[in-house]
Amino acid sequence: MPENRKHLLLVEDEAPLREALAERLAGHGFEVEQADTGERAIDQLAEFAFDIVITDLRLPGIDGTRVLETALSRYPDIIGIIVTGYGTVKDAVEAIKRGASDFVTKPFQFDELLHALSSALERRRLKSENAYLRSQLEERYSFEGIVGRSRAMRDLFQLLETVAGTASTILITGETGTGKELVARAIHQNSPRRAQRFVALNCGAIPETLLEAELFGHVRGAFTGAIGTRQGRLEQAHRGTLFLDEVGTMSPGLQMKLLRVLQEREFERVGDSHTIKVDVRVIAATHSDLTRMVAAGEFREDLFYRLNVIPIQIPPLRERKEDIPLLVQHFLEKFCDADAQAAGRPNGQEAPRHAGLAPMTVSQQAMRCLMAYAWPGNVRQLENAIERAVALRGGRTQIEAADLPPEMLDPSEPTGGPDLIFPDDGIDFERYVSKIERELIARSLERTGGNKGQAARLLNLKRTTLVEKIKRLEGR
Ligand SMILES: Nc1ncnc2c1ncn2[C@@H]1O[C@H](COP(=O)(O)OP(=O)(O)OP(=O)(O)O)[C@@H](O)[C@H]1O
Ligand SMILES: [Mg+2]
Repeated sequence: MPENRKHLLLVEDEAPLREALAERLAGHGFEVEQADTGERAIDQLAEFAFDIVITDLRLPGIDGTRVLETALSRYPDIIGIIVTGYGTVKDAVEAIKRGASDFVTKPFQFDELLHALSSALERRRLKSENAYLRSQLEERYSFEGIVGRSRAMRDLFQLLETVAGTASTILITGETGTGKELVARAIHQNSPRRAQRFVALNCGAIPETLLEAELFGHVRGAFTGAIGTRQGRLEQAHRGTLFLDEVGTMSPGLQMKLLRVLQEREFERVGDSHTIKVDVRVIAATHSDLTRMVAAGEFREDLFYRLNVIPIQIPPLRERKEDIPLLVQHFLEKFCDADAQAAGRPNGQEAPRHAGLAPMTVSQQAMRCLMAYAWPGNVRQLENAIERAVALRGGRTQIEAADLPPEMLDPSEPTGGPDLIFPDDGIDFERYVSKIERELIARSLERTGGNKGQAARLLNLKRTTLVEKIKRLEGR
């Protein structure tokens, strides 16, 4: 179908290379136009809306950076791929920052270029499909056991739905306990690779020297203690998914080796020279700010771009408090089921039927504490708090504030400004405001040992106003 063919402008001054590439690209279904200088490329861009521009960075006269800039300013959705010599990787990375989709370093295998092209096309397709899905699909509040109703989580579910079907590399970022591993598993479970293995490796938990062998495997005698030959996680994940957790902790040497795996899908076992090819989908996760680490020279920039093909950011729980009631419900069900099962086990009987049916609830006061808390440990901490509360509740079917860990009961929190609680079914305005007034006044008096004049000053009120307020509040 001619309409489906992508129009590609290939800018390269070395004629033999250009012609060879053009021929192979045409063989892969691209409609290719060639330009031997930047000037000519800019003219061609002015006349035709290409889908893709592949440009050498170093050209006589106008260089590839300018070509790319012109292309992007004319067609913001155009896919720009940079071809660069070995010494100019920095410039290529610079070009990515300005909007290029990817780069390949000379000399390169044609497959590398093709891979860069297809993942860029894939990303563009996802972008438009995602916008389409959002407008079409009924929004859902869960995906593979991931629960949430906040805008951020609903967007995440839609993104997961679309990326699961691809083989693109994914980088998941989020604070501890936000659900990075849960998300990685959900992607695998929904991918065509689901019948194969999901292999997880926590790069932060293994000493550097062992990590390499763990990832790539080793042969007998590769290092002290290497008694036999062992497969690494990469090989175990062949045709499946490799989850690289805490990828930010990798040493520079390993970062380089991982880069090669991502670019060429090949590696050698430690102590061996035989090259092994693998087909793995890589999902990486980190709680560190990799962009900052790149800026500080602690993480390879090129590796970052290879990992960050599809970025997924999971916001901390404190930024999506509307998810808390749903998560609480989810964990209540989880732990009550576990409870009911455990209760049935000792004498081999089934749990009494009503045990699973009695709906567990959370008192409004307990819910207020849960909503007001800052959750430094995010969803994992919430999960633990609910598990604890279920265990402490005894025979009650309602969780009370007293069942929560003490740090969640800080009285300064529930009325704290930015964390104002506003329940779905509304609020008694007058009472709520009085409650805040009462608390502020009590605190100021506490602080000043009951001195109303000083307390008024702390509150920025006239003394008489404060006295009036105290009278009015006492009258209630
Ligand atoms: N949105 C969610 N819905 C349901 N359960 C969740 C959600 N997010 C996290 N969890 C649960 O919280 C716990 C922590 O999640 P997970 O291990 O995926 O976090 P993480 O981001 O990998 O944390 P860390 O950085 O500490 O490794 C798990 O038990 C997970 O099932
Ligand atoms: Mg984790």
